[in-house]
Amino acid sequence: MPFQKNILCIGAGYVGGPTMAMIALKCPSCRVVVLDINKEKIDRWNSDDLPVYEPGLLQVVQAARGRNLFFRTDMEEEIRQAEIIFVSVNTPTKSYGAGSGLAADLQYWEKTARQIRNCSRSDKIIVEKSTLPVKTAQAMERILNASGNNLRFEVLSNPEFLAEGTAIQDLENPDRVLIGSRETPTGLAARMELVELYRSWVPKERIITSNIWSSELSKLVANAFLAQRISSINSISALCEKTNADVREVSRAVGTDGRIGDKFLNPSVGFGGSCFKKDILNLVYICRNYGLETVADYWEGVVRINDYQTERFFMTMLNAMFNTLAGKKICIMGFAFKANTGDTRESPAIAIAKKLLEEQALIVVTDPKALENAKADLAGIATDRVRYIDDPYEAARGCDALAVMTEWEVFRELDYRAIFTDMQKPAFLFDGRNLLDHRMLFDVGFNVYPIGTPAMTHF
Ligand code: NAD
Ligand code: UGA
Repeated sequence: MPFQKNILCIGAGYVGGPTMAMIALKCPSCRVVVLDINKEKIDRWNSDDLPVYEPGLLQVVQAARGRNLFFRTDMEEEIRQAEIIFVSVNTPTKSYGAGSGLAADLQYWEKTARQIRNCSRSDKIIVEKSTLPVKTAQAMERILNASGNNLRFEVLSNPEFLAEGTAIQDLENPDRVLIGSRETPTGLAARMELVELYRSWVPKERIITSNIWSSELSKLVANAFLAQRISSINSISALCEKTNADVREVSRAVGTDGRIGDKFLNPSVGFGGSCFKKDILNLVYICRNYGLETVADYWEGVVRINDYQTERFFMTMLNAMFNTLAGKKICIMGFAFKANTGDTRESPAIAIAKKLLEEQALIVVTDPKALENAKADLAGIATDRVRYIDDPYEAARGCDALAVMTEWEVFRELDYRAIFTDMQKPAFLFDGRNLLDHRMLFDVGFNVYPIGTPAMTHF
């Protein structure tokens, strides 16, 4: 049976792969192809060793792959065939030239637009899936329409809100799907086409439509608001440590106010992930470009507090361990930026590991899914003082301190009595996630340093 629609996604990363796998699963009448310039990545998408670890992802991929889901590298042919093209390439922070360190680097984005234009022979709907600065669709339209070939490209904005570690749940049952378009007859028709696609499994009331600029901007704002909550509670954690208040109690008391809500109020060593910092900095850059300095300063504060929190955590370790870490062995428990992912991009564990190594400490990294990425992140840095060990018991053996960086459930279930026995004394535990039972650890003999509540020490 011929497919009713040809859908293409350019960029087979954390977003492109899972998102398209879900569309393919839910829309069996569509042929869904995911393309990438990275052939090794595509080979892995075609194997059972997927390039992205996400609970439930392999099952979704296996259900659709070869049926109506295909991972490929032959750009030209696939662009030609597609009626709807999602663009899900990376948009990292620019590291050169104007806006370096703040603005989004749109080079991959623009290359994709040109590829689409050069290979197209028919009208297409182009969907911005990547997170982009507000007004990018205008640039996209100008590039696409610059060839004078009389083809019609309708650009939509459909930002992705999935979180890593819960991507499959988020895609299957999203809080909302946002679709922005030009409010012209052709723009509205393209919008409806995408609405219909999502209607295959998303309830109507959860599909929000808007003008294209609101849609682009809403993605940056949603990430900024989420990160702002974490920075807000993290800033209060510093005050709690000074005042004998317990940040977990404060968080609960504040979060039970229905107007505030209880999500994203867990204090931590700092938020990580590929997007929060990059998207806020991009927002800051955009505001400054429009002369909105006070607005930019406000949002920049969210990132400043995050850096401060990670630095503060490190200083707590240094101060607690008698202001010298040289030759001490520290087990970094968790390297992923959050649980249930192998992704380490912008993980606070990277900053902490580097600072410990600068202090001449030895580090042992253990993580159930992120050791390969951890090796890449720390490649070439004091390699003789870094080890990577799967088994947390073996990793902790002989260490002076444990530092919990990721809230992996498996860390909660370890036998800390046995771990304590095999450690140097005094033994320290720094819980950057408030994951563990601090009273129990203290009773076992650890000197315990949680976030946002005074330390429990035997000194
Ligand atoms: P990623 O780096 O995992 O994947 C991007 C992929 O695009 C890479 O595999 C890269 O090789 C490919 N690519 C780049 N240029 C290409 C080209 N010209 N042709 C074909 N392929 C090309 O990035 P990601 O995490 O999937 O993020 C993609 C976008 O989605 C970003 O804008 C990000 O901000 C946004 N986003 C990410 C998440 C997340 O959880 N990671 C969630 C929501 C939104
Ligand atoms: C985040 C957003 O939650 C997604 O909606 C968005 O699509 C995505 O960014 C994106 O644009 O990339 P993600 O970064 O995958 O998703 O994961 P989060 O669950 O948001 O966690 C981000 C960081 O904040 C993690 O390091 C996490 O440990 C930390 N965090 C989260 C806290 O420190 N405290 C909290 O209460 C919640």
